[in-house]
Amino acid sequence: MNQPTTRQGVAFLLNGERVDLESIPPTLTLLNWLRDTQRLTGTKEGCAEGDCGACSVVVAEWIDGDLRYRAINACIVFVATLDAKAVITVEHLSQFGALHPVQRNLVEQHGSQCGFCTPGIVMSLFARVQNRDKQPLEDTLAGNLCRCTGYGPILDAANAVDADFAHAMFEPQHQHLRRELATLQHDEHITLEHPEGSFFAPRTTAELARLLQRHPDATLLAGGTDVGLWVTKQQQTFEVLISTARLNGMNAVKREAGWLEIGAACTYSDALQALGELHPAIKALVRRIGSTQIRNSGTVVGNIANGSPIGDMPPALIALDASVVLEREEGTRELALQDYFIDYGKQAIERGEFVRAIQVPPLDSRAHVGCYKISKRFEQDISAVSAGFYLELDSDGRVVEIRLAYGGMAATPKRAIHTEQALRGSVFNEASVIGALSALDTDFTPLSDWRASARYRKLVAGNLLRKFAREVATGQSIDLWPASETPS
Ligand SMILES: Cc1cc2nc3c(=O)[nH]c(=O)nc-3n(C[C@H](O)[C@H](O)[C@H](O)COP(=O)(O)OP(=O)(O)OC[C@H]3O[C@@H](n4cnc5c(N)ncnc54)[C@H](O)[C@@H]3O)c2cc1C
Ligand code: FES
Ligand code: FES
Repeated sequence: MNQPTTRQGVAFLLNGERVDLESIPPTLTLLNWLRDTQRLTGTKEGCAEGDCGACSVVVAEWIDGDLRYRAINACIVFVATLDAKAVITVEHLSQFGALHPVQRNLVEQHGSQCGFCTPGIVMSLFARVQNRDKQPLEDTLAGNLCRCTGYGPILDAANAVDADFAHAMFEPQHQHLRRELATLQHDEHITLEHPEGSFFAPRTTAELARLLQRHPDATLLAGGTDVGLWVTKQQQTFEVLISTARLNGMNAVKREAGWLEIGAACTYSDALQALGELHPAIKALVRRIGSTQIRNSGTVVGNIANGSPIGDMPPALIALDASVVLEREEGTRELALQDYFIDYGKQAIERGEFVRAIQVPPLDSRAHVGCYKISKRFEQDISAVSAGFYLELDSDGRVVEIRLAYGGMAATPKRAIHTEQALRGSVFNEASVIGALSALDTDFTPLSDWRASARYRKLVAGNLLRKFAREVATGQSIDLWPASETPS
C-alpha cells in the first residue's frame, strides 16, 4: 500500500443512496441521525445501550470483493465510523411495494403486536437470510427483546422464511449496493472536524501511533460497545476520538505456524471461526458474549483494553498464555496478557501506546481447555464469574502445566496461583481438586455486588474447577449447551 493521504469527511450509502458528510459531531449515533435528521423512524430506541435490539439496522461491508451483511445496534454506533459501508434500514426492505419475506411471515404468523420490536427483529432476520447464516435462530435473535408477542410466533415466522426466494427478491438491491460500494472503497485516512470534537480513522498503525503522539489524551474507539454507552448513558464528549476500525489488515485473525494474532479491529464475529478451530470451548464462550449485534461490532481487543475485571475473554486468553502487542511511535513491545492487568482501572499501557493485537500460541494437542461463564441469563448478560482453565497431564495423569484464570473474583482478571501450586504434580481428578480448593481462599477475596455475593462467587469458582475435572475425566463437556443448540 502506498503512503495513504488524508480525506476530510465520510461517504457511505443509506438505503442505496450515497451520503457525504464533512462535519458531524464525532459521537453522533446512527440511531439519532436516522430518526432526527433522515426522519427514518422505523428504527426505534428502546434502551440506548445495545441490549434490546429495537434499533437494529443492517450494515453491508465490502469484504474480499463481495458484500457481507451484519445486524448492528444503531444506538451505540457513531455515524463517523460508517465510511465506505452501506446502511440498510427497515424502510428499504419494503420500498418497492411488496413486503420482504421476513416481514410477510411475521404478519402471517402473528409475530408482532405493539410492533415496537418488530423493525429490529426484521433486520436481524434479514441479515441472517442475506448471509445464509446457519447459526441457531436463538443466537440470531438473542439481542432482540419483545415484550408482548412472545417468541414462539416470531420463531415460527423466522423458520417459515424461504431463504432462496428472499435472496432472489433482494438481488437487484444487492447488485446495486455492490456496484455503489465498490466505488466508495479507498485507502485514505479519515478526519472529521466539528466544534464538538475531532475524529480520526487512520488506515495504518503508523498513522495511529503518530496521532496518539500528537493527542496523547485522545479516546480510542474500536467497536464502541463500551464507548458508545459512555455517550448515551453518561453524556460524555471527547475532544479527540480515534477509531481503529479502518486499520488495514487489523480486522481479522492472522494465522502463522499455529499462532493466532487477533488484530485491534477484529470483532468477535470475525474471530469466531479461528478461535473455534483453536478449541470448541472458546467458540462456545464467544457465542455467549452479548448478542449477535454486539459480537458484530465489539472487538476482542476492546474487551482486553477496557481492563474490566468481568470481561469474558481475559480469563480464557490468560489460560491460553496469550500476550498483548503494544505499539507506539518508538516501536512495539510484547507483554504476557496476565501482566497487562495491574489493578482495578490500571493497565500496563503507557501514554501514546495502543493495543495492536493479541497473540495466542499454538495449543498442544494433549492440552485440556475449559471456558466457563456464569451469569443470570444465558444470553446477553455480563458474567458474575468467568473462568479459563488450561491443563497438561503426563502419562500418569499428573499435572505438568496448569493455568487457572478467573474473572469476577478480584479487581482484575487473575490467575489462581496458589490453587495451581496445590495441584501441580498431583493426579488430576475431582478428589484432588476438592483437596486443593482451600487454596482458592488464599487466591481470592471476591466482592459482593448486585451480580453475586462473595460467598456465591467462591462457591462457583470451586465448582467450575470440579466441573472441569469431571470434563477432563470423561472427555465431554457437561451441560454447556441445551441439546437443541449444540454448537456446530
Ligand atoms: C449489550 C451489551 C452486552 C455485552 N455483553 C458482554 C459480554 O457478554 N461479555 C463481555 O465480556 N462484554 C460484554 N459487553 C461489553 C463489550 O461489548 C466488550 O467489552 C467489547 O469487547 C468491547 O469492545 P469494543 O470493540 O466495543 O470496545 P470499545 O467500546 O470501542 O472500547 C473499549 C475500551 O477499549 C479502549 N480501546 C479500544 N481499542 C483499543 C486499542 N487498540 N488500544 C487501547 N485501547 C483500546 C477504548 O478506549 C475503551 O476504553 C457487552 C456490552 C454491551 C453494550
Ligand atoms: S435501543 Fe436498545 S439496543 Fe439500541
Ligand atoms: S410486539 Fe411489542 S415489543 Fe414485540
